Amino acid sequence: MFQRLEDMPYPTLALLQGFCLGGGLELALACTYRVAEDSENTRLGFPEIRLGIFPGFGGTARSVRTLGPLRGMDLMLTGRSIGAHAALKQGLVDRLSPRRHLHETARLMLLQKPLPARRPAWWTIANSGPVRPLIAAVMKRKVSAGIRPDHYPAPFALIDHWRVNAASRERMVAGEAKQVSRLITGRVSQNLIRVFQLQDRLRALGRGADSVIAHVHVIGAGTMGGDIAAWCALKGLRVSIQDQSPEQLSGAIRRARLLFGRKLRHPRLVRAAADRLIPDFRGEAIPRADLVIEAIVEETAVKQDLYREIEPRLKPGALLATNTSSIPLELLCQELARPERLVGLHFFNPVARMQLVEVIKGEKTGQNQIEQAMAFTRRIDRLPLPVVSSPGFLVNRILMPYLLEAVGIEAEGIPAEQVDQAAREFGMPMGPLELADAVGLDICMSVAGKLLSESDQAFPKAFRHRVEQGQLGRKSGRGYYDYTGKKASTGKTAVDPEMARELSDRMVLRLLNEAVACFQEGVVEGADLVDAGVIFGTGFAPFTGGPLHYIRQTGPEVLMHRLQTLEQSYGSRFSANVGWSAIS
Ligand code: NAI
Repeated sequence: MFQRLEDMPYPTLALLQGFCLGGGLELALACTYRVAEDSENTRLGFPEIRLGIFPGFGGTARSVRTLGPLRGMDLMLTGRSIGAHAALKQGLVDRLSPRRHLHETARLMLLQKPLPARRPAWWTIANSGPVRPLIAAVMKRKVSAGIRPDHYPAPFALIDHWRVNAASRERMVAGEAKQVSRLITGRVSQNLIRVFQLQDRLRALGRGADSVIAHVHVIGAGTMGGDIAAWCALKGLRVSIQDQSPEQLSGAIRRARLLFGRKLRHPRLVRAAADRLIPDFRGEAIPRADLVIEAIVEETAVKQDLYREIEPRLKPGALLATNTSSIPLELLCQELARPERLVGLHFFNPVARMQLVEVIKGEKTGQNQIEQAMAFTRRIDRLPLPVVSSPGFLVNRILMPYLLEAVGIEAEGIPAEQVDQAAREFGMPMGPLELADAVGLDICMSVAGKLLSESDQAFPKAFRHRVEQGQLGRKSGRGYYDYTGKKASTGKTAVDPEMARELSDRMVLRLLNEAVACFQEGVVEGADLVDAGVIFGTGFAPFTGGPLHYIRQTGPEVLMHRLQTLEQSYGSRFSANVGWSAIS
């Protein structure tokens, strides 16, 4: 059908407003001309690669023809979307027009029938037989820096497809159909589509109520509070931020400016976001806030004191949220006159990258408050996951055994780089020790301490020693890696495949076992939400479809057998949870 559209004997034109992604952009590319609205809302791109495929309606041929091989391939390989002005500059659209002139612009174009822009000669050279293999090799090297073909085959297949078929348009179209149909029925693509649907499901959970929150007050301008405040301001809310330390406050404002600059780019937008974020040393804005988020030190008594002090000053109906990672809400709300207003809003580090927010319902939290918290999470473009108040909630509880196993392996004398590499080879986006450095080893220790108090586990001496020495990770300049130089020393390293397998089994199976326990105990509602939480809260290998889905696909018996072997070698921390039999 797209080909028939392209072959029409008269000029055709696509008018683009808002999102024009994937199949929509392929359709637009089959037209003679494209006119897009000159607006910040215009976005064009090929996100297919994120679903484990690539454009399949002739889009690989048409995008390379319209944009040239380098830009065309880049757009398809990265899956990113571009705005109206970038699209015009690259030649993806022919004209931009304000909304009110869109039809007139289109009419004039169709009457004037301008000739298509001339293609630079180097496109032909780059697309030619002798040059393509060289460019393809460079593209592959770039892609390989982040992912592996057995985990994510689509980008590699796309590069091969262009290298082999770009000589003729017919071959491009036929080769594309063949490759895309192979990929889309494969396991990876099916799992990535599942992840996409899980994301939609979490989004929908925030749609139960309209968010009434316009002003957020954040207390604590440290790693988390500062980033939460900046994110809320970025997303258009009015934000005041308070801390007992003026240095922390100014540090948070500085970091926020960097975030605004990076995300918004346009000076006018950056200034507007900066204007929305107000440092408030004395907490004078508290009576005006619809939501107060507490992100101060992880100590029950300090948090309770703060609540006692601020509760009388809260606006009636204002929501009070804590970002605690490990203190039960039941304990925190003890001093409150109205405990139903306290909810947990557990953000993840770094806030700007991790999409998930666990929304924690304590025993006394009101249903209305939970719905407001979910709607707020959605309002700031994060994914809300309702979780019952239990130690470690969902994500940290599942993550902690995995991190502790990594810490233990390092203490046995295996270099941190090798431990992290083994996890990356399983498909984790970041190694566990690198992650521990990012979170802060002191925070890890405090969370793990609270989670493990009932079990007989002790921290390895080497880990305690690091914390005592003040090697707390990224924030102190040193943890498992050194961060004092320009570039952190978390580089890749080679690990013997058999050893990598043993190490990743040790770490990942503990994570899987804990995921099964959470499912069994109903920490969230159902297996899919366990998977969604772990993927969006930790970055757990998305191509697997999530930990429980991975268990189902690999076969619970196979993995349980492996757990038993590990239990024999390493002890009871590998004993299988009773819930394994329920996964099928
Ligand atoms: P941090 O130590 O970086 O920041 C805490 C800030 O609170 C400091 O700036 C301190 O000056 C300020 N503060 C302490 N007492 C205060 C008071 N009474 N009034 C005003 N300001 C006060 O800590 P971080 O890492 O940001 O953690 C904050 C909370 O977020 C903790 O509850 C932690 O468990 C939780 N959390 C931390 C994560 C992480 O990766 N670091 C992830 C998710 C949650």
